[in-house]
This record gives sequence, structure tokens and C-alpha cells, in this order.
Amino acid sequence: MLVLGVETSCDETGVALYDTDAGLLAHSLYSQVAMHAEYGGVVPELASRDHIRRLLPLTRDILARTACRLEDIDAIAYTRGPGLAGALLVGASVASALGMSLGRPTIGVHHLEGHLLSPLLSVPAPRFPFIALLVSGGHTQIMEVHGVGRYRLLGETLDDAAGEAFDKTAKLLGLGYPGGPALSQLAETGEAGRFTLPRPMLKSGDLNFSFSGLKTAVLTLLNKSPRDDPARAAVARAFQDAIVEVLVEKSATALEETGLRQLVVAGGVGANRQLRERLSKEAVRSGFQVFYPRLEFCTDNGAMIAFAGAMRLKQRPIPDSSPGAFTVRPRWHLEERDGTPLPAA
Ligand code: KG4
Ligand code: ZN
Repeated sequence: MLVLGVETSCDETGVALYDTDAGLLAHSLYSQVAMHAEYGGVVPELASRDHIRRLLPLTRDILARTACRLEDIDAIAYTRGPGLAGALLVGASVASALGMSLGRPTIGVHHLEGHLLSPLLSVPAPRFPFIALLVSGGHTQIMEVHGVGRYRLLGETLDDAAGEAFDKTAKLLGLGYPGGPALSQLAETGEAGRFTLPRPMLKSGDLNFSFSGLKTAVLTLLNKSPRDDPARAAVARAFQDAIVEVLVEKSATALEETGLRQLVVAGGVGANRQLRERLSKEAVRSGFQVFYPRLEFCTDNGAMIAFAGAMRLKQRPIPDSSPGAFTVRPRWHLEERDGTPLPAA
């Protein structure tokens, strides 16, 4: 079965072709980062308009590269939510129009399910069950994953997401948008231990997070410290050390409490070098395995949507919308995806 995946939930237009026998055939991505950088963040209306411009040329590109024809596509998966309503509507309507004209089913995929399953595109892939640390710009969650659609939420952020904390702190440091990669680059040059920031909720006794206080702590620190480059880099380092320590500790606790031995890291912050290094060290120390998506599949992409759509269709070959009818879900909890959460632990 050949599945076309379409991702348009935020500021990246992604398309991919996934074959259930041959694997990922091709993927293509257009990032709108340069366009939004001028405004210091994503401008939703500009994002929607740009998805309209990019989606069909990107689709033609992957078809040409794989020598596939439109008629070869068996199903179309698109991101139904969560995300920006207008941006989601572009992917949903294009997917639906294609489905109608080709007489093929369409399936609306949960964006976080895409992230969650993205490490399964790599070799070696984790086996179910595993713990997933989902760290993106909009979400920070620890999930217990028993299979496609069988998720239990163990903990999540009570306020800012990890990526959001990176982006907001980067702004305080005068770095561009998106701040995560820029902040982590600056942190690499910062002196470790020159400043120390609090580790929010490290000892909260649960698996929840809270990152909004960190940016206030950064602001206070910046106001007290010298305004030179080494001090800024040391502040970036202190921020990254704090956030990474909390993410690593809570992931290790989730593994310990559930008795699972595999950790999957997904979402944009999963690209962070220091987080990967610390998690890999902890994995050796505590005897668990850690799996990451390919770097290009940490941030938003079409491959994870094509893959998650293919997994869903394999499970339940009936598409979840009638031809021509589609909905988007700008706010959508992953556990509601099937309405069948796992029984409480
Ligand atoms: O998963 P993603 O592409 O989009 C959402 O679904 O939200 O994640 C984007 C987030 C942004 O907040 C970005 O700053 C952050 O991931 N990010 C990073 C790094 N690369 C991307 N944060 C820290 N270190 C990185 N290397
Ligand atoms: Zn995402």
C-alpha cells in the first residue's frame, strides 16, 4: 500500500510517500522559518498562504523523484490536528480533494502520534511497549506506548512546552526565531557551572513538568550578570542544563516506574545535542535503550504523517471520513484519538 503523507500543522510544509512493503520512498520539506523570522514568531495567516503555494509543487517533486504516478497512491494521510486551524485546513482540503478525484481513502492523523511513531522509521526501531518523551514546540509529554493508538499519558507540562521555553528564552537572549537551535548552539560555547538555574518540579513526585518559571529566572539572571558574550553563553548553558536535567530525570523515572526498558525521544527538542548526549549516558548507567528519530524527522515532516497513516490503515482499513468530508482539530488530545485510553496503571 502506497500512502501519501501531508503535514501542514504549523510552519513546515511536508510531504512523503511511504510504502508498507518497501518503507519510506521519498520525503520533501519546505520550512517557512525565514518568512516568519522577520516577525519573531509564526504568523498564522502567512503560514496558511505559504502552505497553499508549496504543497502541490512538493507533491509533484516526490512523485517525480520516485517515478510514481498520482494513480499509484492507495491512500492519503494528512495532519488533522493539533495545530493552526488555517494551516491544517490547507493540508486537509488538498488531501481530501486528491482522495475524491482519485477515489482513494483519506485519513486524518494526530500530529503527536506522527512524532511518537517517527523513531519506528529508523533502524533499529524500538519494539512495543516503550516510553516516549515527546518534546516539541507545543507539547511536552511522557507517554506509555503499547501499540499504535494504545497510549497512556504519564505526565505533561502544566504550562510552557519544552520547545516553547527554548524559544522564549532565546528571545530574552536576543536570538532569532526559532530559538531552540540558536540557543543550543550558544549554550555549546557557554561555561558550565558559571550560573545555576532551578530544576522546576524535579522533586514533584510525579511526571509532570513546568517550564514557564525558568524564563523568569533567566530574565533575573540576565539583569544581574554582565552584558558580554561569555555571560550570555553561560546563561544559555545554565538554561539548557536545567531543562535537560529535568527531562532526563523524569524519563528515567518513567522507565523505572513502569519497568519498561526502551525510551523513544520525539519532537523538535529531540534534536538537541546535549539532551541526546545526557540521555545516552543515562541509558548506559541505568541499562535501558534509547531511540531517536533521524534528525530531519525530529521536527515536523511529512514522513511521520505518511507512516502513522499507514499504520492506522493497516489496523483499520476503513478510512475515518466519508469522501469529500473532512474536519480539522486545532486542539486535540492524543488519548482521545480512539476514545479507548488504556486502563489506569
Ligand atoms: O516538533 P516541532 O518541529 O514542532 C511542533 O510540533 O511544535 O518542534 C519545534 C520546536 C521549536 O520550539 C524549536 O525551537 C525546538 O523544537 N527545537 C530545538 C532544537 N531544534 C528544534 N530545541 C532545542 N534544541 C534544538 N536543537
Ligand atoms: Zn511537531
